[in-house]
Amino acid sequence: MVLILRKKLLLAAQRLLTTKIPPQQGLALRNNHIEYAGRDHVILKNKYGKIVSGPFNRGIFKVYIRGAHNKAPLLEHDSLTIDLSNKDRYGWKMRETKDTVEFTYALTNGLKARLSVDAAKGTLSFLIGSDLVMAEPLSPQVTRDWLLVKKHVLWPGGVKVFGLGENTPPMNKAGQTIIMWNTFPLVYKQGVTPLYQSWPVVIFQLTDGPAIGLVFDNPNYSVFKFSADGKRMKYSVRDSEISYFVLLGPTMPELMRQLTSLTGALPPMPKWALGYQQSRWSYTPSSRVREIAAEFRKRDIPCDTIYLDIDYMDRYKCFTWGEAFSDYLELIRELHGSGFKLVAILDPGLKTEPGYAPYETGVEKGMFVLDPGGGYVKRNVWAGPSCFPDFVNPLVREWWGGMVEEFVKSGVDGIWCDMNEPSTFDLRRTLPPYAIHKASETRRLPHRQVHNAYGYLMSKATYEGLFRTTRLPYVITRSTYLGGQKYAVTWTGDNGSDWEHFRAGIPMILNLSLSGQPVVGPDIGGYHGTPSPELYERWILQGALYPHSRTHARRNTGDREPWTFGPEVEKSARKAIKLRYRLIPYLYSLLYEAAYNGQPVMRPIFYHAPVSLTLNHQEFYETEFLLGPHLLVAPLMDPAPTRTCCFPPGRWYSWWCRKEHEGGEVYETVAEEDTDLPLFIGENAVIPVYPDPPSYIPDRSLDSLEIIITLKDRAQGTVVEYYDRESLLAYEVRAGTGTGRIEWEIRLKRFGRTPAGYRPPKTLHIRLNHPIRKLRLDSWYSHSLAPDPINEMWTMVTINKPTFPLKGRFIL
Ligand code: GLC
Repeated sequence: MVLILRKKLLLAAQRLLTTKIPPQQGLALRNNHIEYAGRDHVILKNKYGKIVSGPFNRGIFKVYIRGAHNKAPLLEHDSLTIDLSNKDRYGWKMRETKDTVEFTYALTNGLKARLSVDAAKGTLSFLIGSDLVMAEPLSPQVTRDWLLVKKHVLWPGGVKVFGLGENTPPMNKAGQTIIMWNTFPLVYKQGVTPLYQSWPVVIFQLTDGPAIGLVFDNPNYSVFKFSADGKRMKYSVRDSEISYFVLLGPTMPELMRQLTSLTGALPPMPKWALGYQQSRWSYTPSSRVREIAAEFRKRDIPCDTIYLDIDYMDRYKCFTWGEAFSDYLELIRELHGSGFKLVAILDPGLKTEPGYAPYETGVEKGMFVLDPGGGYVKRNVWAGPSCFPDFVNPLVREWWGGMVEEFVKSGVDGIWCDMNEPSTFDLRRTLPPYAIHKASETRRLPHRQVHNAYGYLMSKATYEGLFRTTRLPYVITRSTYLGGQKYAVTWTGDNGSDWEHFRAGIPMILNLSLSGQPVVGPDIGGYHGTPSPELYERWILQGALYPHSRTHARRNTGDREPWTFGPEVEKSARKAIKLRYRLIPYLYSLLYEAAYNGQPVMRPIFYHAPVSLTLNHQEFYETEFLLGPHLLVAPLMDPAPTRTCCFPPGRWYSWWCRKEHEGGEVYETVAEEDTDLPLFIGENAVIPVYPDPPSYIPDRSLDSLEIIITLKDRAQGTVVEYYDRESLLAYEVRAGTGTGRIEWEIRLKRFGRTPAGYRPPKTLHIRLNHPIRKLRLDSWYSHSLAPDPINEMWTMVTINKPTFPLKGRFIL
C-alpha cells in the first residue's frame, strides 16, 4: 500500500516536472519582408525574427526559424544528428515575383511539388500539382523561450498521422498530444507520454493520396498536438531557434528514402543480430548462463544471443566483472564454442568511488557533466551516487569509446546501453536542466538543450568504440533521438506482461520504423510481471517475426525461457523461432534494403498501397504487418485460434498451405490451414530462405539456399549474402513470364573483398508458384523437378553445384 502510494506520488511529481504548458498562440504576422532571395534560399524577416528557407536535398526542403531575441551570429544552428553540409539542390528550380519566391521539384509521380514563400501574407505553402497540401503562417512565432510551428493539411479527404517515434497506440496520432522529453516512465500504459526516445518525425498519409513528412531537429523539450481529424498540427519547443525539414514524398517508400538521406542509415550489422535473443534481469551467476545456453541447444530451439543484465558487474560498476562472473573469459569462450554471442549492459552513470578507474580518470580528465557551481553533477542510480559522462563533448565520446574497446577485449560481442535518458533515482529522475555540457572547449550548453540527445550520443560513443575492434558493431539502446538508427537498434523499454502491451507491440514498432529505426521490438512476454502461458505463446509466435526478437524480464518475475511455459508453448516457440531462422536470408536482405534505401524491415499494410481498406481500418493496420514488400504477417491477437485479416492489393499465398487470395479480400483464417501463425507471400516475390533452419546463424554461408519466387509477370529481387561498408556479395534474381514459359536468371553481384568463408551454395532450390514441365538451362547442370510437397500447383526445382550467372527457361 505504502509502496503504491509512493509510486503514485512520484508519478504525479514526475508529471509536474515534465509537463510544461507550451504557448497556444504565436505572435501576429506583420511587416514581413524578403531580406534576401537567391536560387538556394530566401530570408524572410520581421520584427520577431528571421526565417531562412530553401531546398536542402533531393525531395527535402529546409526551414530555419529563429526569434529576434536570439542574438547569436546567424550561423544556421548546428545539428547533433543531421549533416547540414549534405546539400544537393539537384532538380530544384526557383522563380521569384514581387512578394513571393517559389521553389519547384519534380516528384516521381510526374507531378511538381511547389514550395511558395509569400512575404506579403507571411505564409509558406506546399502544393502538389495544383492542389494545396499544406500551409502555415511563416513567421518566427516565439514567446519568451518557446517557439511554435503550426501546420495545416489542406488536401481534401482523410489524413492519418504516423511516425513520432516511440509512442503507445493508437498508431494514428490524430487527436493526440505527444511530448518529447526522454523519460524512464515508472508506469508505462497506453497514452503515457513522454517515453524513452525522441523521434520528431511526422508523416501525414492521405487516403489514396501522397505521403508527406516533417522532421523537426531540436533535442529540447517539445510538444506535438494534433487535431482530431489529423489536419492541424502545433509543434512547440522550448528554444528560440529550430531547423525543420519538409519531406516531399509523395509515397511512403520515397519518403523513407528522403528521411534516411537526411538522418542517416542503419549501418551494416552482424547477421547474428537477426537471431532470436534471450535475456532477463539477471542470468547470474555464470553457471546459470551456461545452463540457459545448453537448454536451448538440447531442446532444439534456435537462439543466437544471451544478454547479461547489471548483475554481472561488481556492485553495478560499469566495465567491471563481479564475483559471480569471475570466470567470464571461460564463459565467453564456451558460449562462442556453441554458437552463442554475449551482449552486456552498460549504464552511463559511473559510481563515485575512490579507486574505481573509470570514475577517477573521468574526474581527472574533466569528462563529466558539470554543476553550475563548478563540481560534477552527482545523482543516484543502480551503483549509488554516480557521475555522468558528458557525451556531447567529442573528447568524452572518445574516452568512453576507449573504455568500451578495452572492455570487449574479453570477447563480449555487443553492448546494451540502458538508463541513458539519462535516468536517475531522485525526484526529477534525470539531470537538472541547468547542468552544463561542454560541446567544445569554448561552447557550453545547458542540459535542457541537449537532453533528448543524451542517449543517442551515448550509443554513438559506444558504437564508435566497438568500431575500433569490429567492422560490424552491435549496440542496442533504450534511449535515443532522431537518427539514432546510425548507431544502435532499440527496444521499447519496460512494458508489461499483459494483453494490452502485447497488442501495443505492432503499432509501436511500426511508428518507430516510420521514424527511421528499422530494427526494433518490445520485450517479448512483457517486462513487468509474468505472462500466462497463453499470452507468452501468442507473443512468441508474433515476436519471432519482429525485426528485433528478444525475450526479456524484470527481476523477481517468473521464468521466461520458452520451455518454462509447458510443452505446448515450447512447441509453438520452437516452430515460430525456426520459421524466423528459415527466413534469415530474407531478413538479412531487408537489413541491406534498410541500410541502403532506407526501407523499413517491418512496414504497415498501407506502406505500398494507402487505399481505404489498408489505411482506414485500425483493426487491420495495427494488428498486421508486412515484412519487407513480400510477406504479410497477420498474427493471432488473442487466445482465439483464428482471426480476420485483410490483404493489401495483389495476390497472396498462404505460407503454410499455398492457398491463393486476392488483394482487397477480408479473410477469416483457418486454424488448420493457416496455423496459429498466419503468414502470406505476395505476388512477384523473391524470398530467399534457409532450407533447414540452423540452430544459430553461421558466420559462413550454408551449403544450400532456397529461393521462393511467386511469379505473376515479373519478379525481381536482391538476395544479400554479406555486406559491410566496403563490400557486398549478393545474387540478383530476375524472372518473367512469356507464353508457355518463364525466363529466369540469377547473377552474382560482388563489390570489394569476398567475406572469409564464403562459398557459393552447393545446392540451390527454387520454389515456384507454377507447375513446370521442363527446365532448360543454358549450360549443363544436374537438376530435378518435382511438385511442391504442399501444393501440386507449385514446383520445386533443385539445381546441384550451380555456377553463376545461372540462366534458363522453365517450360510450363
Ligand atoms: C531498466 C531496463 C531493463 C533492465 C533494468 C536493470 O529497467 O529497462 O531492461 O533489466 O533496467 O538493468
